[in-house]
Amino acid sequence: MHKPAILGGEPVSKKKIRFAKIFVGDEERKAIEEILREGSLVSGAYLEKFEKEFARFIGAKHAIAVSNGTDALFLSYLALDLTFGSRVLTTPFTFVATASSIIHAGSIPLFADVLEDGNLDPASVEKMFSREKIDAITVVHMYGKPVEMDEIRRIAREKGALVIEDAAHAHGAEYKGTKVGLLGDIAAFSLYPTKIIAAGGWGGVIVTNDDEVAEKLTLLRAHGELRHKLGEAGAYEYERLGYNMRMSHIEAAVAYYQLKRINTYIEKRRKIAKMLNELLGDLPGIRVPEEPNHLKHVYYIYSILIDEKVIGWSRDEFVKALNAEGVEARRGYHKPLHKQELFLNINDPRVNHFAKIHKYPEYAKMHLPNAERISQKTVWLPMHPFLTEEEVESIATAVRKLIEWKSTHA
Ligand SMILES: Cc1ncc(COP(=O)(O)O)c(C=O)c1O
Repeated sequence: MHKPAILGGEPVSKKKIRFAKIFVGDEERKAIEEILREGSLVSGAYLEKFEKEFARFIGAKHAIAVSNGTDALFLSYLALDLTFGSRVLTTPFTFVATASSIIHAGSIPLFADVLEDGNLDPASVEKMFSREKIDAITVVHMYGKPVEMDEIRRIAREKGALVIEDAAHAHGAEYKGTKVGLLGDIAAFSLYPTKIIAAGGWGGVIVTNDDEVAEKLTLLRAHGELRHKLGEAGAYEYERLGYNMRMSHIEAAVAYYQLKRINTYIEKRRKIAKMLNELLGDLPGIRVPEEPNHLKHVYYIYSILIDEKVIGWSRDEFVKALNAEGVEARRGYHKPLHKQELFLNINDPRVNHFAKIHKYPEYAKMHLPNAERISQKTVWLPMHPFLTEEEVESIATAVRKLIEWKSTHA
């Protein structure tokens, strides 16, 4: 039995198996050089080209490229008029931007509980509607796995609520044959470098089928200025309060060429997930991700749930031990949002300037048992389209080695 590297043994892999990796191809390089040569740094043809192709990829009427995924969410709330006085129900098991963008828009975030896979639990959502006034539901297709949208949409329809998709993880994912991005009233994607596709820096994109909402978004992202509608005649003419949340030309050029490879990337991720499921699925105390037939999961993150008692390692020690084996594992969303200092002190204006005008719920009193439990059991393993078969096998070998060691050295 090989000794874990964290206890002084030999690591499974001497070369670090990276958690995430991006690839920038020759087309991107050439486009960036051309942009630099021409000096068209902030605007140019790639922006529209990317938007057109992204809309086509999703099957949506409009795609509006913006500065990042957080701003994509924020502008989506403004475009749907979910601002002061609105209450938006979402998940606490997510990246902070899912909820902070609701606050930035002037709304109040509320939390429902999640299922074991990290997606919103429709039963908990329904229960929240029976207790609270709620204007919209923001789903996060966690790790690239679509939320059970039939249920969410039924509740939203019955209660007259809007549905926002935080699709930061889920470019190309499908629910019953429909792509994520078309499952609600609006969808926000992130193009952060490690996401399913990257931009040449930060980046985000909003998808909608509504002409008016799209028009509002193009104004909102660029100072509310009429230039985009009227050309030079609209320069320095401002129609509404706007922001500077545009995507730059270099960002758009990279995103455009990355998008050309998206289907290959997704297929690679799915193949790796299938291999990992086969290699890890039978291990005691490990729960691998599931993919029911009506969904297409894109595995932005490959997340497992561990049972600490069965595997003999605490979650945090297990993650450290995997890293010592050369496998860049992470503990992921290890503290749900309602337990974060930000939300415990959200009514303090020094923490959140909106507290000067709003009263937020007492998040400290919320008990969301599944979100609290899975945040203690989650382990993220490396996942990106450039993992070799050998690396995938080494990931599984490291997991197996650590569990076997504990079963004989308890
Ligand atoms: C679920 C979720 N929502 C929103 C965002 C925000 O995207 P960005 O980092 O592009 O602002 C992220 C980013 O990681 C995310 O994971």
